[in-house]
Amino acid sequence: MPTPRRVGVLTAGGDSPGLNAAIRGFGKAAIGYGMEVVGFRDGFRGLAEDRRVKLESGTLAGILTIGGTILGTSRDKPHRMLVDGEVRDMTGAIVATYRKAGLDALVCLGGGGTAKSALRLARAGLNVVTLPKTIDNDLVGTDATFGYATALEIATDAIDRLHSTAHSHHRIIVAEVMGHRAGWLALGAGLAGGADVILIPEIPYRVAKVATAIRRRVRRGTNFSIVAVAEGARSAEDAKALAAAEARAERASDPSARETARADVALLETQHLGNTLRLAHQLEQLTGLESRVSILGYIQRGGTPSPMDRLLATRLGSAAADLVRAETFGVMVAARGDGTGAVPLEQVAGRRKLVPPDHPWLAAARHVGTCLGD
Ligand code: F6P
Repeated sequence: MPTPRRVGVLTAGGDSPGLNAAIRGFGKAAIGYGMEVVGFRDGFRGLAEDRRVKLESGTLAGILTIGGTILGTSRDKPHRMLVDGEVRDMTGAIVATYRKAGLDALVCLGGGGTAKSALRLARAGLNVVTLPKTIDNDLVGTDATFGYATALEIATDAIDRLHSTAHSHHRIIVAEVMGHRAGWLALGAGLAGGADVILIPEIPYRVAKVATAIRRRVRRGTNFSIVAVAEGARSAEDAKALAAAEARAERASDPSARETARADVALLETQHLGNTLRLAHQLEQLTGLESRVSILGYIQRGGTPSPMDRLLATRLGSAAADLVRAETFGVMVAARGDGTGAVPLEQVAGRRKLVPPDHPWLAAARHVGTCLGD
């Protein structure tokens, strides 16, 4: 009999192409090692409510190419879950399910938020391993996250398509790409799709600079432009307001002042639609070119994973089974070149990999004449 014998698996946070490939990679390898695999529905909520399903070879067959997650997902956190209209700490309920189900380990597929929740559960005594999933590519400690490659292809394809219509109508098209905090997707797709302007959260922009770049193109005889904007990109003024609200939330000792400041942060963070529409309007005013907005949205997260994501998810998933078998817990499986590694959750939780100012992709963008709004 191998140890551990029974392992739970769940998917948490926003869905991402490659989740099923990873569930399959982990499940098949674990079953191959003689373990029993139990899936929990809808992330940590399913664990708190003990909604489980046995994952056997048959259940895992045929899911490699399917988008989304067969287990369902949610953004629920163990310590802050809405139950019967009130926010409750469900860590105790989760530990109880883990014991009742006779689990020896739990594998959580998710991003930064999931790593944070998993660390909390590890501290509550659970044997946890996480897998790096996010289309945002913003997890520290791993070369790559599954979901990103597929989203990059979709967003690039969209930018390619927007070119011909922008060209025909002599318009500016502002394409909003996902990425609240990190600009990897907008930068990658903007570069690969040849966007004329790329705006990312890491570089607060000045609308006047963007307009100048577009007018320069017009003077050279090119009367259309594509602007790839990450949903979290902000003007310098808005970035300042957000930083101030974050600092207030951080400093506040009084719980109600902290809640108010947190609400301000949340409001400023969710205003991307308004920001993108305002940006398009401002550019129209400043350049005299008609402007349109295209929100790429959830299309970027849907559908079949790319071959690169299937490969990554399969190898990370099967590596998670190796870690469980070796009883290496409290870690995230990381992609390291062609191989894999294990990073302590403490080094991942609550941290975010942003685009650094000296990143080669930014240098390349500037070299090919892309305006970054600064
Ligand atoms: O975290 C991944 C992500 O896709 C972000 O890029 C995006 O801002 C967010 O999820 C949207 O999530 P939700 O599903 O909660 O609307």
